Amino acid sequence: PSYAVILAGGKGERFWPLSTPERPKPFLKLFGERSLLQATGDRLLGIFPKEAIYVVVPPHLQSLVVEHLPWLSSSHIILEPEPKDTAFAVSYALRHLPEGVIAFFPADHYVGDESAFRQDVCLAVEAASELEGILTLGVSPTYPATGYGYLERGEEVRERVFKVARFLEKPDRESAERLYASGRFYWNAGIFLALRRVWLSEFARHAPLVLEGKGDKISLDYALMEKTDRAFMVPASFPWDDLGDWRALERYLKGDKENLELARHVGLDTRGAIIYAQGDELIVTLGLQDVVIVREGKITLIARKDRVEELKKLLATLRQVG
Ligand code: GDD
Ligand code: MG
Repeated sequence: PSYAVILAGGKGERFWPLSTPERPKPFLKLFGERSLLQATGDRLLGIFPKEAIYVVVPPHLQSLVVEHLPWLSSSHIILEPEPKDTAFAVSYALRHLPEGVIAFFPADHYVGDESAFRQDVCLAVEAASELEGILTLGVSPTYPATGYGYLERGEEVRERVFKVARFLEKPDRESAERLYASGRFYWNAGIFLALRRVWLSEFARHAPLVLEGKGDKISLDYALMEKTDRAFMVPASFPWDDLGDWRALERYLKGDKENLELARHVGLDTRGAIIYAQGDELIVTLGLQDVVIVREGKITLIARKDRVEELKKLLATLRQVG
C-alpha cells in the first residue's frame, strides 16, 4: 500500500500580505478558482485513492483544510501540535500512518504536466518500496537558485532512478553558482517518499530528537536529507515552479500585457507592474515601472519588483514595530 501526505502549513511570508500565518501559500487561489492545495489534491487524486490521502497542518488551519478539500475525511487531517517546520510535520504524521510507502508532497507548487507528474511519482513509489531508501524528484536547474535544495546525481541504480550522491539545502550564492555550473546537480522538488519503517530508521539515526518531538524548528532537508546516505532521485519530466514570490506569477499569467493585473486597474504610463486587489477595489497608477502593489484587507504593500525577495526581512522589521 502507499499513502500521500500533503504538507500545508508554513509561514505565509512569500505572498504577504495576501499570505499570512493564518493563510499560508497553499490556501491562496493564485491561478483562478482552485487554491494551490486544491490543485495539489486534484493532482494526487489522479494517483492515489482518496482513502490514502492525508493532510498535515497545525490546528489553526484545520477549518481551512475542511473548506478547501471537502472530499477529505476529517480523520485524514493530521493536526500537529505546533508548526515547527517540515521535519516535525513529517515525523508527527508518520505516527498516524500504517506501514507502506509514505509520500510527502508540498502544496505550494505549480506543476505543468499532470500525466508526466503521475508517471514520475508512480516510478518513485515503486522504487521506494524496493530500494530501502528515500526517493526524491529532481528538477533540471535553469539558474543558480539559492532558495532550493540541490541533489547531486550519482549512479543509475535502475532505469530513471539515481543514487543521490549529495544533498545540499539552500546553498549561498557562490556555492549555488558552482553547483549549477557543474551540470551534475538537480533542484529538489520537495517531494519525499519512503517506506514507513525506512523513514523511522532514518529519523532514529539522524534526528532522534525530532522523532521525540523535541528541539527547535527544523526542515526535513536539514534534519534528514543532508545527512542520509540512502537518498535516491527520479529526474522530473514535468514543468515545475516553486512560485517563490509575486514575480513567479508573471511567468504564467501575464502573457504579453504591459502589467499583471489581478485587480481592477487603470494605469497611465505604467509598465511591468504586478497589481493585486480584492473585489471591486480600483487601483490607479501613473508613471510607474516594475512595481508590486498588493492590497489586502487593511494592508497595502508597494514594493520595487526586484526587491520582493526581501519580504522576509521587511516582515521581521514589521513585527518589531508591532
Ligand atoms: N504541516 C506543516 N507544518 N507544513 C509545513 C510547515 C509546518 O511547520 N512548514 C512548511 N510546510 C509546508 C509548506 O506549506 C510547503 O507546502 C512545504 O511544507 C515545504 O515547505 P517550504 O517552507 O515551502 O519549503 P521551501 O520551499 O523553503 O524548501 C523546500 O522546498 C523546495 C522546493 O520548493 C525544500 O525541500 C527545498 O529543498 C526544495 O528545493
Ligand atoms: Mg516552498
